[in-house]
Amino acid sequence: MRTIDVNLVKDSYKVLYADIQNGIQTILRESLEDRKIAIISDTDAANNNMDELEKALSSYNSEIIKIILSPGEKNKEIKVAENIINKLLSKKFERRDIIIGLGGGVIGDLSGFIAGIVHRGVKFINIPTTLLAQVDSSIGGKAAVNSKYGKNLIGCFKQPELVICDINSLGTLPKRDLLAGYAELVKHALIGDAELFSFLQNNIKKIFNDYDILQEAIYRSALVKAGIVMKDTHEKNIRAYLNLGHTYGHAIESFYKYDGRLLHGEAISIGIVMAFKTSLKLNLCSLEHLHVITDHFNKVGLLTDMTSLGEKTILPEKIIDLMRSDKKVTKGTINLVLPREIGSVEIRNDVNENIILDILRETLDN
Ligand SMILES: NC(=O)c1ccc[n+]([C@@H]2O[C@H](COP(=O)([O-])OP(=O)(O)OC[C@H]3O[C@@H](n4cnc5c(N)ncnc54)[C@H](O)[C@@H]3O)[C@@H](O)[C@H]2O)c1
Repeated sequence: MRTIDVNLVKDSYKVLYADIQNGIQTILRESLEDRKIAIISDTDAANNNMDELEKALSSYNSEIIKIILSPGEKNKEIKVAENIINKLLSKKFERRDIIIGLGGGVIGDLSGFIAGIVHRGVKFINIPTTLLAQVDSSIGGKAAVNSKYGKNLIGCFKQPELVICDINSLGTLPKRDLLAGYAELVKHALIGDAELFSFLQNNIKKIFNDYDILQEAIYRSALVKAGIVMKDTHEKNIRAYLNLGHTYGHAIESFYKYDGRLLHGEAISIGIVMAFKTSLKLNLCSLEHLHVITDHFNKVGLLTDMTSLGEKTILPEKIIDLMRSDKKVTKGTINLVLPREIGSVEIRNDVNENIILDILRETLDN
């Protein structure tokens, strides 16, 4: 069974690439026996994966509490978390009991957050069922819900006990969600693995149809993320590299108010292209780099500029305003992660806002 060991000073864990049944079997029997196991999921993830998980847990003498939400970002709400916690406590859920998150990044973030705060922290197993969650959100221990002041502003670090990535769960994922996750997968290659990017280039036509190729790409992309969070768990320095494309991307995303018209990963592919354009203006990367990445995203069907959104009311001034209110802003300066080449980035907080405005205008007028 392929694994990634996420070795941290405290609370190390394994990411397993296995089907749910085999993944669950790696857990010591006494860790599951005679406990309550709360499974938090949403209808889409549960419809396609709950039977297998229940079957995997059926040989343990444990009480299963299923909490199944409707899909969507709206679940990342403090009120939803509180309702779930109350439900668990009303069923005498104890500190020795376990929470399993079965779903995409929304469910992973919400259930990790609940596991981090109920009884000041209980065991958490994450079973990510979207591409985005398998390459990104299930690794690194960030768990949060949204606030009316912005995304992910109420949260904690909660490392899972175990992450089980079953590639077969991606079989039912809508193409749009698959592509949104692919943007984050590519992001990791651009940050730290040029060879992975070549692998993606070479397999671009087959990647979504051949699970051996996709599995290899997921594993190597997750390795980049794991490598970074092992070096900087609490985002004091290099973990910020993972924000490549996110300062532009978050601003575009928040313009749409997270209403489903633009998915996170869709905003990130646009944001990454804008980061390359910024690098080019600063002579950090070459025109060829910009072309290669734009072409790659175009070929798979990801967005590379804002014109294709067909939104007439986006103004560069509005987007830069939103960039200024991003939580990554420190003391009023916009921080950008900028590519130097494929596989290497740097953090800059000195980019002149006129350059950013120029990029935004260009991306709107393309
Ligand atoms: N914690 C982190 O480090 C981190 C990193 C990146 C993103 N995130 C968060 O992740 C979230 C986005 O995650 P996402 O893209 O996985 O979205 P998501 O969880 O909303 O899942 C996308 C859609 O796929 C459906 N789905 C899930 N599994 C399925 C399956 N196997 N078959 C069919 N449908 C399925 C879901 O119901 C949903 O409709 C955002 O809230 C973002 O903030 C967190």
